[in-house]
Amino acid sequence: MSVVGPRPERQFFIDQIILKAPHYKHLHKVRPGITSWGQVKYGYAENDLWYHGVAATAATECLASYSKVTIPPVSFTAALLHDIGKLLLSRCVSDDLFKEIRRLEAEERITWADAEFRVLGFTHADTGAALCESWKLPEAIVNAVANHHKPDIDFSPVTDAVRIANAVARITGAGLGNEGFAFAIDERTSDRLGLNRKNFEHLCVDTVMRCTSIRTEFGES
Ligand SMILES: [Fe+2]
Repeated sequence: MSVVGPRPERQFFIDQIILKAPHYKHLHKVRPGITSWGQVKYGYAENDLWYHGVAATAATECLASYSKVTIPPVSFTAALLHDIGKLLLSRCVSDDLFKEIRRLEAEERITWADAEFRVLGFTHADTGAALCESWKLPEAIVNAVANHHKPDIDFSPVTDAVRIANAVARITGAGLGNEGFAFAIDERTSDRLGLNRKNFEHLCVDTVMRCTSIRTEFGES
């Protein structure tokens, strides 16, 4: 085990997760740690980056009940991995650059992804997509990870589902980290999926209930 690395997990739960999200096994190519780079660099409390991915996956599952378009099953894996690039950046980007990203986001009131791009020339979505591509994951997952903060391109149901799932996870407070509420929801995404304000609220409630159930199953409070 490392001092810093991904969350260690019990084999029983690994097996359960892989049944639903087969690509979860790739996370275990990295030695687990007693704390995470996400916590050190991105301001996530313990397990929050993991929990954000789980909440986004739960939101995607719940979204299937409200969307007017079919949500492909590959969307669940895409939602789980959508912020995986943050783990990579946490290991490679200096503290000074992270401070500059935080300063830009706060002072200019821009999204976290836009601040990353201004400082680094790329975002956690770009690095996450490159990582997924190197793992030879399906193109739909690579695109959803790459474009989850780009509302003007890629209107596939998988990418739209991940955009909404990310928003629901954040609105419901699941794994905010330093990015917090510094993100944007594009109404065109909701429109394509047929979500109005009322069923979006229902989706948030369903996701919170699903997450509560998952946390209980995993012995988390
Ligand atoms: Fe993101």
